[in-house]
Amino acid sequence: MKEDLYVYDTLCMIFRDGRWGDRALASVREDSRAFVTNAVYGILSKNVTLEYIISSIAQKRPKNQISILLKMGLYYIDYMDSLPNYAAVDRIVECASRVGKGDVKGFINAVLRKYIDKGITYPKDKAENISVRTSTPLWLVKKYIEQYGIEQCERFLGVPKFTKQHIRPNLRLWNKDDLYSRLDSMNVDYVKSNNGCFISWSKQLYGLFDQGLITIQSPTSMMCCESSDVKDGMRVLDMCSAPGGKAVYLSELADITVKCCDNRQHRVDLIASYAERMKSSGIECVLSDATVFHVEYGAFDRVMCDVPCSGFGVAMSKPDIYLRRQESDISSLAAVQSRILRNAAKYVNCGGRIIYSTCTTLREENEDIVDGFIKDNNHFNLVSQRNFLPDGKGVDGFYIAVIERKA
Ligand SMILES: C[S@@+](CC[C@H](N)C(=O)[O-])C[C@H]1O[C@@H](n2cnc3c(N)ncnc32)[C@H](O)[C@@H]1O
Repeated sequence: MKEDLYVYDTLCMIFRDGRWGDRALASVREDSRAFVTNAVYGILSKNVTLEYIISSIAQKRPKNQISILLKMGLYYIDYMDSLPNYAAVDRIVECASRVGKGDVKGFINAVLRKYIDKGITYPKDKAENISVRTSTPLWLVKKYIEQYGIEQCERFLGVPKFTKQHIRPNLRLWNKDDLYSRLDSMNVDYVKSNNGCFISWSKQLYGLFDQGLITIQSPTSMMCCESSDVKDGMRVLDMCSAPGGKAVYLSELADITVKCCDNRQHRVDLIASYAERMKSSGIECVLSDATVFHVEYGAFDRVMCDVPCSGFGVAMSKPDIYLRRQESDISSLAAVQSRILRNAAKYVNCGGRIIYSTCTTLREENEDIVDGFIKDNNHFNLVSQRNFLPDGKGVDGFYIAVIERKA
């Protein structure tokens, strides 16, 4: 089937060429996109499990493209309920021939049929078992067990994927009650949240979106802005701002000016176009490296440090994060995060606040960075810190620390 060829091609771009899933999927034809997106993200989210199954059946590690075909087959067998197992095998064998891998048809057939007959024996070792069951890299599971203990680690890694989006009203134009009434009149189902609602995205919402009446923003990202306690007249510096989600929301919470920085021009452009769609005011966009101090920027009442991070807190919706981030990346990320936070300190007024945040669940990028900073800077207080773990109900893994410069 042509969809299987698209799934195969997209997975080749991701596994072989190192592309991110959303980029690779952009080239898939519209009429096949829903099927291909589900299959590709489904396979990515089960990648560790699928690799384990392959390694426990095949004598030696298959080459990349064969491994991709096997992952597709195993995924179709386990997760495509409408497709009988043997039809799934036939489809993959057919796909193998069409992509020039006809010579390994027998091998693919044998591995998939063995899986159908024998299933999977999970590892006895607790960390390995959690890794395979939850499809999380083993090195990361070991870190989580150390940090959270086995029970909590198992719980949050095992939560089901949350498929709804969180939308919020543009506070410049209306409020959440107006939004609920409009959704009611459009017969759109939603679940209320503190500051917006959870919804299954549909084409019906494009009108509201294009007019800047709504936007997609997670509850944790909104909480990060709300914990800044911005007030009218304040100057805010957003050091790592693109695509502008927090800066734009901050500018709706109070009448403020926000200097929005990012170190890549195409990302700075994203902030500008987002601010334009949301009809924001008080937003200034600047190409600027957050590790470098600019005395000419002056002092600020609030400094947002939404630093680049591993992103493991949102791996549920972006499962290719596990392919792209290695254990060795954590220490280099932590070094940059610490430099950004220490640079942020140079911009804050007395009594002013730094909001340090990440969308990761790893202590090295969160508490360790903030604790190290406070230890070396006794003219700053830690006002609060909150660590969110994915709950399967719309909350992602996220960390927010509020740090205040003593008056
Ligand atoms: C987590 S994202 C920010 C999300 C943004 N705050 C929002 O709410 O939409 C981190 C951003 O930091 C930027 N970045 C990475 N290294 C940077 C640096 N040294 N200086 C400035 N920005 C940087 C990345 O380009 C990315 O846009």
